[in-house]
Amino acid sequence: MQSLQVLIPVFCLALLGQACQDTTTTTTTGTKDWWQNAQFYQIYPRSFMDSDGDGIGDLNGITSKLEYLKDLGVTAAWLSPIFTSPMVDFGYDISDFFDIQPEYGTMDDFRALIKKANELGLKIILDFVPNHSSDENEWFKKSVRREKGYEDFYMWHDGKVNAETGKREPPSNWLQGFRGSAWQWNEERQQYYLHQFAVQQPDLNYRNPDVVAQMKRVLRYWLNEGVAGFRCDALPVLFEVEPDANGQYADEEVSGLTDDKDDRNYLKMDLIENRPETIDMTYQWRTVMDDHQRIYGGDTRVLLIETYAPPAYTMQFYGNRSVEGAHLPFNFNLITEPAKKGVSASSIKTAVDNWLLNMPAGRTANWVIGNHDQRRSASRYGVSNLDAMNMIVMILPGASVTYQGEELGMIDGWISWADTQDPAACNSNQEIYEKFSRDPSRTPFQWTSGLNAGFSTASKTWLPLAEDYKTTNVETESAAARSHLKIYKSLVELRKSSKTLQNGATKYDVVSENVFVVKRSLSGSPRIILVANLGSRGITINLDQFDTTLPTHLTLKIRSLNSSKAEGALFETNGLSLAAGEALVLSDS
Ligand code: GLC
Ligand code: MG
Repeated sequence: MQSLQVLIPVFCLALLGQACQDTTTTTTTGTKDWWQNAQFYQIYPRSFMDSDGDGIGDLNGITSKLEYLKDLGVTAAWLSPIFTSPMVDFGYDISDFFDIQPEYGTMDDFRALIKKANELGLKIILDFVPNHSSDENEWFKKSVRREKGYEDFYMWHDGKVNAETGKREPPSNWLQGFRGSAWQWNEERQQYYLHQFAVQQPDLNYRNPDVVAQMKRVLRYWLNEGVAGFRCDALPVLFEVEPDANGQYADEEVSGLTDDKDDRNYLKMDLIENRPETIDMTYQWRTVMDDHQRIYGGDTRVLLIETYAPPAYTMQFYGNRSVEGAHLPFNFNLITEPAKKGVSASSIKTAVDNWLLNMPAGRTANWVIGNHDQRRSASRYGVSNLDAMNMIVMILPGASVTYQGEELGMIDGWISWADTQDPAACNSNQEIYEKFSRDPSRTPFQWTSGLNAGFSTASKTWLPLAEDYKTTNVETESAAARSHLKIYKSLVELRKSSKTLQNGATKYDVVSENVFVVKRSLSGSPRIILVANLGSRGITINLDQFDTTLPTHLTLKIRSLNSSKAEGALFETNGLSLAAGEALVLSDS
């Protein structure tokens, strides 16, 4: 989420050297498991496709569009939460982990979705939200009533009495992700409970073995329904520091990053983020996944981890020499580095360094440029850089992740204060809400140029459409001779057919200030070279500066929308002119 990611320290970067060497190892066998070169595609179910005309996306809507994903070349679709929820945080507040939100459909609809996906050879991954439940969950209600077995299901505390005023105060100064104290007083139980996110999202107590067991049951339940794995939500906040000998929690230190005392970034958050116990819990979940596969057969069930944390912490999720962890902790560096330093070849290089130079040997990288918590990639990097960014995600080694609409170049929608839905924004005020709102990237998916972009037949959709839908949509981009969508598809096709991209070594660098260059190579296969001019002016580059082993000419395979070069034509390696924002995928065959 936005406010958490700002905390990522930069000290680790100081350790990084130049990355001009061939960094990843070349696999000779070429056998990779399905997820290692997969195209993951994130669906935000509320905004993907509405089948029943209520203005809200749903499961039958998704099922009706699975062929689109197949056509796109997607390997596995990850669905943001579809479980029963009062929708305070749009499904990330779950009141029943074992059922489907009625607005989205039924268990039968879910089974039909899985069936259709299986027929098409698509994998479905669900969102696992382990840190918290909704306050409407039965577990929480029982815990409030101190029912046997549920007394310590959540993080309860008496708070402390202020010596001067004699009044009761929260146990610590900890802040939640959506502004204000992370502690909420409960009248009925006469205690505070912890919530790292909204008041309606009480944190589960992972020091209670019953909670651990219940959440493993959640994993098994959905594995039994045929899902291919999970994206695990908000992992860094799973555990908090333990209380001291007197049962008191320490206060967090002030960070100095902002004066806004309600903003989580006001504090350092060392005590309630990135705890070691969280890593171990992931290893336990991995065992659940592996056991399931061993018992029931079939393909590897994967764990993808959401973590905005320093590399030293994030990399531990992969596991270590003696234990397997998550298959893929999400790599958000392509989002966070340009956010700190601006979009440039050097911030992209730093982002790539951050992952590849820190990743333990033998693990698989992954590349992410957007999700439902971030502004749209086309808006953040600029529409003119969108193809370049999609190319970077697809040409670098490992798995690629696409957030719905990135293949089209969808931009942020503008949402008025009156239409604002996101709790991260609603908990602020009309003057500052846009700084916090995640609604702009959650507007309905754009299928056509017609009513509600073909998303819904309703008179009003749950969020208004982004204004560019008449030109940026699947129908228009499929009909056009050239489009972001078509470029995206060519990239997926290249990844699927190129042994070099699947198994090759990787070399990358910045050339001529603002051109990011990647070379992938594998003996016996054509080399693939990506050049992306992320600068705002045209430039002629000499690729000899990057790599002296390249041939004198390279063949153009795929070009960005803003390129006027001819595909299939040869271009001089030592005098390659690039327009602003122009990005090319070239090959030596
Ligand atoms: C994750 C989700 C975000 C949600 C939060 C609380 O960061 O991606 O959307 O608000 O967790 O569950
Ligand atoms: Mg609907």
